[in-house]
Amino acid sequence: MSTIGLCSDHAGFEMKEFVKQWLDQQGIRYKDFGTYTPETCDYPDYGHRLALAVESGEVCPGIAVCGTGCGISITLNKHQGIRAAQCWQERIAELSRSHNDANVLVLPGRFISHEEAARIVEMFLVTPFAEGRHRKRIDKIPVKDMPPCA
Ligand code: RB5
Repeated sequence: MSTIGLCSDHAGFEMKEFVKQWLDQQGIRYKDFGTYTPETCDYPDYGHRLALAVESGEVCPGIAVCGTGCGISITLNKHQGIRAAQCWQERIAELSRSHNDANVLVLPGRFISHEEAARIVEMFLVTPFAEGRHRKRIDKIPVKDMPPCA
């Protein structure tokens, strides 16, 4: 497995630290793109950093955390090479990989427990993309591939 990229804002900081501990226990390498303290900060500053690192291939997949998961998902998904999936249940994490080939897992840090987060992260990391009918759907996502307006 390649190096996983992590990021969060202050609201996701504690959950990101938990995810790092869990990854350490599994022997999985990661790179933390911040934030590095629980001081208040702005989630786009960290979401964009992680998105660029995933798009360049420096890390894959990414795991991002903010309070709700909304702000950091919105930020990540502005990048054409990013498919960030906000997951609050294992089954959603599984489907985000098998159907959407999600390359960033987004956790709502203030709304799930550590135990739930560990199960979601594990499911995300072990589930492959199913290909088949899902390939043509994800190929239609990038805005640059949109047909010109008539
Ligand atoms: C921070 O207070 C909070 O707004 C942020 O973590 C996130 O939930 C935004 O979408």
